[in-house]
Amino acid sequence: MSSDFGRRGRRVLKVLLPILATVAIVAPLAWLWQDSRVPASYSVMEMGYLDYGGRAATDPGAGGHMHSHDHSKASAPVRSVTNMIVDPARPADVRVDLVTRQETLAIADRSLSGFTINGTSPGPEIRATQGELIEVHLRNESVADGVTLHWHGVDVPSAMDGVAGVTQDAVPVGGQFTYRFVAEQAGSFWYHSHQVSNPQVAGGLLGSLVIMPKSGITQQVDVSAIAHTYGGVRTINGKDDDLHVPAHPGERVRVRVINTDNGPMKIWSSGAYRLLAVDGTDVYRPTEVSGSSVTLTAGARADLEVRGPGNGEAVRIQLSKSSAMIIGPAGADVPAPPQPDTDLDLLAYGSPAPLGFDPAHPTRRFDYLIGRRPGFVKGRPGMWWSINGHLFPNVPMYVVREGDVVVVHIENRSGEVHPMHLHGHHVVVLARNGVRATGSPWWVDSLNVLANQSYDVAFVANNPGVWMDHCHNLKHAAQGMVAHLMYEGFATPYRIAGPTDNQPE
Ligand code: C2O
Ligand code: CU
Repeated sequence: MSSDFGRRGRRVLKVLLPILATVAIVAPLAWLWQDSRVPASYSVMEMGYLDYGGRAATDPGAGGHMHSHDHSKASAPVRSVTNMIVDPARPADVRVDLVTRQETLAIADRSLSGFTINGTSPGPEIRATQGELIEVHLRNESVADGVTLHWHGVDVPSAMDGVAGVTQDAVPVGGQFTYRFVAEQAGSFWYHSHQVSNPQVAGGLLGSLVIMPKSGITQQVDVSAIAHTYGGVRTINGKDDDLHVPAHPGERVRVRVINTDNGPMKIWSSGAYRLLAVDGTDVYRPTEVSGSSVTLTAGARADLEVRGPGNGEAVRIQLSKSSAMIIGPAGADVPAPPQPDTDLDLLAYGSPAPLGFDPAHPTRRFDYLIGRRPGFVKGRPGMWWSINGHLFPNVPMYVVREGDVVVVHIENRSGEVHPMHLHGHHVVVLARNGVRATGSPWWVDSLNVLANQSYDVAFVANNPGVWMDHCHNLKHAAQGMVAHLMYEGFATPYRIAGPTDNQPE
């Protein structure tokens, strides 16, 4: 009998085991799949988990996992990002009207579907002087998915940051939005849509923004060069030709290069140059460089100074291998200089200067560890970017308080380069791969983090609100390489998806 039971038991087990094994595999997968799904509409405040950077939580009401809590019931009084604006009574100094359209672009004899601002791509350059109030009236005439404008690199008040579903609703066809901010920082910036940003930025919904210092600049010639790839065609300021910049012998020329693509770009020159500014911040005591390139990560800007050469010659600045600027008299040309083997190391370029704060004893320390692993994002299986081991949307929400000194350790173990971009703040590089910075303070808003590299960066939490902290390879962002930084006690009333269909990536 016992042997009979044993036989039957074995038979039952034979049937049950594969079922149990299947359940053992499928159940966690089903849970992971379920956990990766995002609700029909959600607030970034509910995304992932709170990371206090080593400090105690004093505001337990805000933030948290979207599947486990309803934070709209938070008891702590919450300040809305919508209140973070400039004085409405203050009149504008610079007023700009921008109209966005979905249009066919003519690029290198090809017709590409894309986007225009006031009829062109790139849109008009906005110029202002430091301290002026810029007021931009955006009207979306025909971009079906809706649009926003984000002022990349300008540390605007949170309500003006132009992120659909985080700081505003996407502007639908026929809709309007007014941006108002004071141009506190002098330098080179750009604007772009932050609604469905991967196709909209690639399709040309962007332009440059230049803020002149009050004291003016010492260059006689000042030109912006927006590097952008439309449908595989590399352009400068929307043209696939070399950009000619007239300059007399001895004249100083300031070239503001803006990389609006998803990947890093190298710049090099046939003549000596100085790197005056990075991401809209002056380099302290920039020395003359020859025989080295400068890497510009996605979203980054570099201001180069070259001199107009004599004897009817010109200087050629390569913006990658396939596009160039030619600076000098009309008709002058220079053969393309070979691409240098060495890259200017900003860790040691220029001279040290005071940072204005002490990063040695930070209030908070965060990790931003970039990896790649199999799993589910938004219900789809695949190999996905992870942040601190987690996949979107279960990513960290970095929490700070106004006045904090914050150090972030960024480490890239994902095998690919990532241009990391924190909104609303500039960060200063303290170290790369553990090697401390020794040059000019290296302030960035867009940081090229190569595979297997680590960076330690620091910033002062001086711009309250809710901010994206994401990869500016906008394809990666759309794949979930997005986290946020929030100030304790702040919240946003806007939601991702939902009736307004906000899709920041
Ligand atoms: Cu150029 Cu999230 O932005
Ligand atoms: Cu990336």
